[in-house]
Amino acid sequence: MSDGTAAARAFYGRWAGLYDLLATYVPGVGELRDHAARVLALDRGDTVVEMGCGTGANLPYLREQVGPEGTVVGVDYTRGMLDQARELVDRRGWENVHLVHGDATAPPVSEPVDGVLATFVSGMLAEPAAAVDGWCDLAPDGTVVLVDAALSHDSRAAPVNALFRALTILSTPPTLQFRYDPPPHELLRERVESARDALLGRARASHREERVLGLVRLTGGRL
Ligand SMILES: C[S@@+](CC[C@H](N)C(=O)[O-])C[C@H]1O[C@@H](n2cnc3c(N)ncnc32)[C@H](O)[C@@H]1O
Repeated sequence: MSDGTAAARAFYGRWAGLYDLLATYVPGVGELRDHAARVLALDRGDTVVEMGCGTGANLPYLREQVGPEGTVVGVDYTRGMLDQARELVDRRGWENVHLVHGDATAPPVSEPVDGVLATFVSGMLAEPAAAVDGWCDLAPDGTVVLVDAALSHDSRAAPVNALFRALTILSTPPTLQFRYDPPPHELLRERVESARDALLGRARASHREERVLGLVRLTGGRL
């Protein structure tokens, strides 16, 4: 495991409770998650995998799309985050939602699935294009949807970009270090764009949306 990966896991493990509150209650985020789950165009009874499922904020929306007869699998490598997701699954009594401790870049899923979702994960991957390629292989006749936040190219987005830069620095371990090379928000944008391009390169039909002046990007690909 690289130093960066170990630091990211330690960070998310420590802040899982706070992360869950933000992931669930930030205004507009629930609607975005619901929308991303719908863009997957799943049918009832389908199987969907969420890569880097974190505390499970997307799970209610994914389960709603596949129904009780479908299957939802959440994969994450941070135990603290998965523990929160597991509490949610137990509380709701969902028997068709499975949580797996594993690496999303080598997903522990052997059968083809109908959809793959990854929200706010691509920017954490050292080789996002290769990971997305693997996710496309996993859903050969299905859909892959990515949702990410990264610095916007829109000239009107200066204030939201400034806020985003501060947030990425505060959430990049070690926190409160103010000089990075390259800055975390630049690396994040490179990775997010590389993941998006990989998906667009594989998809036979695609769907792209931007929100918050281009800060939040949703990319869907039908394979
Ligand atoms: C920013 S959080 C996003 C969580 C969730 N997708 C959401 O939208 O709230 C990123 C999550 O991805 C997980 N993650 C990052 N890289 C991963 C990898 N290679 N394998 C598994 N999980 C990973 C982290 O542990 C963390 O829970």
